[in-house]
Amino acid sequence: MNDLALLLTSEGRALLDEVRDTDPAQELAVATRLRREHPAELVSAALGQARLRQRAVAKFGAEDARRMFFTPNGVEQSTRASVAAYRAGRMRELGVTSVADLCCGIGGDAIALARAGIRVLAVDRDPRTAATARANAEALGLAGLIEVREADVTEVDTAGYDAVFVDPARRGGRGRIFDPEAYSPPLSWAVAAALGAPRAALKIAPGIPHEAIPAEAEAEWISDGGDVKEAVLWFGTGAPGAVRATLLPGPRTLLGRGLPDPRVRPVGRYLYEPDGAVIRAHLVAEMAEEVGGGLVDETIAYVTADELHPTPYASAYEITDRLPFNVKKLKALLREREVGTLTVKKRGSAVEPEELRRKVKPQGPGSATVFLTRVAGAPTMLIGAPAQTPATAGGAS
Ligand SMILES: C[S@@+](CC[C@H](N)C(=O)[O-])C[C@H]1O[C@@H](n2cnc3c(N)ncnc32)[C@H](O)[C@@H]1O
Repeated sequence: MNDLALLLTSEGRALLDEVRDTDPAQELAVATRLRREHPAELVSAALGQARLRQRAVAKFGAEDARRMFFTPNGVEQSTRASVAAYRAGRMRELGVTSVADLCCGIGGDAIALARAGIRVLAVDRDPRTAATARANAEALGLAGLIEVREADVTEVDTAGYDAVFVDPARRGGRGRIFDPEAYSPPLSWAVAAALGAPRAALKIAPGIPHEAIPAEAEAEWISDGGDVKEAVLWFGTGAPGAVRATLLPGPRTLLGRGLPDPRVRPVGRYLYEPDGAVIRAHLVAEMAEEVGGGLVDETIAYVTADELHPTPYASAYEITDRLPFNVKKLKALLREREVGTLTVKKRGSAVEPEELRRKVKPQGPGSATVFLTRVAGAPTMLIGAPAQTPATAGGAS
């Protein structure tokens, strides 16, 4: 019996419950004790699975992670629940009621689609992965909506499904693969599959060059909690060529309007750091227009303005000082202000934030943020603090 089959027996399930909160530091002692009553193979499978479940909490939340099953690759490659739920919601809005999930992995997306009430055919060619996806559908009470098939996606007939979803494998033996043709299956195959279906969504790496996006697709960059998670190419949404940035939680979506690059202007009282999804989607101009701002430098995605306009698409900072880049001057200024907590942000500077922090040795009760950047081509330090918007200033009204 393989690991998963062992864990799915009643003895396996009971053991999984028992080892659920095992501290990795205690694993050896726990294993030695358990081996007196259970087969060694089952004990190591249960401890290994408990470790994977602990790792999966960040993506799936404790409630689901402790009921689900994982493979090491499956935890790493699966879509986090927040992003999968958002995409599944969009599928629903598009009227989709059935999806062929081609490359389902351990089922991160299939689960979210099923929870949105969508019937799913979940396909993966790796036997262990497909079996894990099946176990997850059962563990979460979704087996009635998710049919798992162990097959090569290139041989699956998806006719009859409202949409296809493809999340190709993006990691090879030597770390992440950036060439979309090196995806498994290659992006060109996924695009052809998408064009042959009424609607489709392809999950791809956020670093995809815009030139590689097919003309028929709408491209959406998604971030969660400020971290860019993925790009999605949507087909059949009725908006070919459209670009959007979606920020979770929310969702808050900024739509591209094809604006030209924002003008460069002198640094004002406020600096806006656009969310990574906005930057990847090339929507800094749309964001800048919302706050009436311009760029600090034509090559840098920092927006500056004289006034504070709260926006979900960027973090705003109030700038107190602007200096040419100079470590000694920064050190003196921080000492004078008694800044002990220094946040270093950079765009267009090769300086390592950790190294800078070591050099300036911040000390004191105060805090500040320094932006290392270029202003009109010159290496510059902009010093400030998160802006107090009416919402962050506190005080119930
Ligand atoms: C990025 S993972 C999918 C993760 C999944 N969306 C989730 O959220 O759990 C990609 C999966 O594609 C599978 N795969 C790669 N090429 C395939 C092919 N030609 N046919 C079927 N599955 C394939 C791999 O086995 C892997 O499990």
